[in-house]
Amino acid sequence: MKVSPSILSCDFAHFGDQIRAVEEAGAEYIHIDVMDGVFVPNISLGPVMVKAVRPYASIVFDTHLMIVNPIKYVEEFAKAGADLITIHLESCDNVEETLLKIKSLGKKVGLSIKPKTPVSALEPYLPLLDLILIMSVEPGFGGQAYIPESTAKIAETAALIKKSGRDIELEVDGGISAANAKEVVDAGATVLVAGSAVFKAKDLKTGVDALRV
Ligand code: DX5
Ligand code: ZN
Repeated sequence: MKVSPSILSCDFAHFGDQIRAVEEAGAEYIHIDVMDGVFVPNISLGPVMVKAVRPYASIVFDTHLMIVNPIKYVEEFAKAGADLITIHLESCDNVEETLLKIKSLGKKVGLSIKPKTPVSALEPYLPLLDLILIMSVEPGFGGQAYIPESTAKIAETAALIKKSGRDIELEVDGGISAANAKEVVDAGATVLVAGSAVFKAKDLKTGVDALRV
């Protein structure tokens, strides 16, 4: 199981150093939340910031695009240094085309669904995916509480992936902490995203290790 600390809770005054510290804490991925103020009611950062911090660490940049019309920007994020690019199923009408574009850029392809979107909506895209991201809070802000119904969705997604026979990572994002990590992993998650749980811990290594159940 992998841990992907979310930058949303980091100290943005020292963004590059924070990325390096996450790598040194032993996390496998760094989760970069990109918000446009349209798909979600919050704004975070764009490709310029991704490019600026890329030299600070070789850790996998797990880029979560919460933006409308992502096809317009995936190339910029790829060039900026994103390794894995996840878009939202609800963010555009050309999901397949966007996923194919990410693939053509040589990057890992991720697809995410919000809490109210059914798991079955993912099915047509399975052959294209390297990762599925199940949102366990409404996207937009860190520090929210885990929605309990997410556990059943994770299990349903894990079964779907198994049935497909494909090697697809199952990432979960929102309200993950040491208190529910076991439940989420037992349901089938292979990558845990955690913002506040990691960055508000005594130190980053303690925060990351506490999630390894
Ligand atoms: C929410 C973001 C998450 C968020 C998680 O829209 O996608 O990655 O930062 O933060 P926590 O772990 O604090 O819920
Ligand atoms: Zn996220």
